[in-house]
Amino acid sequence: MAYPRETRERLDADAQVIIARYPLARSALLPLLHLVQSEDGYVSPDGVEFAAEVLGLATAEVSAVATFYSQFKRKPNGTYTVGVCTNTLCAILGGDAIFASLADHLGIGHDETTEDGMITLERVECNAGCDYAPVVMANWEFLDNQTPESARQLVDELRSGKDVTPSRGAAKVCTFKEISRVLAGFPDGRADEGVGAGEPSLRGLHVAREQGWTQPAVPAPSTNGTGTGKPSATSATGTPAAPAATPAATSEAASSGKSAGTGKPSTGASKRTAAGRTDAKREG
Ligand code: FES
Repeated sequence: MAYPRETRERLDADAQVIIARYPLARSALLPLLHLVQSEDGYVSPDGVEFAAEVLGLATAEVSAVATFYSQFKRKPNGTYTVGVCTNTLCAILGGDAIFASLADHLGIGHDETTEDGMITLERVECNAGCDYAPVVMANWEFLDNQTPESARQLVDELRSGKDVTPSRGAAKVCTFKEISRVLAGFPDGRADEGVGAGEPSLRGLHVAREQGWTQPAVPAPSTNGTGTGKPSATSATGTPAAPAATPAATSEAASSGKSAGTGKPSTGASKRTAAGRTDAKREG
């Protein structure tokens, strides 16, 4: 069954906004599938036909993409996807125990949804929140340093309709449909809410500042563009390196036996022109 006329008109208008962002219409398929999920809560048969029609694709092509990515659901998703990281670090710090506890508490397994349609439980791979392991995601918002008890409380609060505040990011966990619309490319204005990088993620930076550590020198580009493997003139304070001699100037210097631009013998020229500036800065 196709979408009702009003729904279709609204989706068509959104689709045109999305398609206009790409040089080729078919490149808009991924955000269009998120748009479909924002309407139906999953990539429905109607949604597949809609995406195929507006992009000029076969429904088989749309389905091929939708079945490739785990973020696209082929059956109605819960209002909240609760993803437990069971990748190595989180798993050994409690992720496996959290998943087992939630599965038992909710009476569902991986990629299954509670009968009330509120929670879809998933095992998820690393979410780059390892410094807060074990982490649980609620519609891709972080809940850090979880335990079986805190995770059960999380799903109970979500099922009861209570607002849940993630550890970082937006001030509130949004619904699957709401977050799908954001992923389709329609910002909800919440990108700057809440805590950004938490203290564990910044600890290394703070230690480096306390100790006065700076980035190591990087190899300077060679005159033939392949890199010399020697440190460049990047200073300990992060000051940009002095410009390297141009290939033409270096070639000229090599043939004349003088360093580029100085008129002096070339022995050690690169050290003087690069590292010499660095040393002068340090001394200054
Ligand atoms: S292993 Fe769980 S966030 Fe990286």
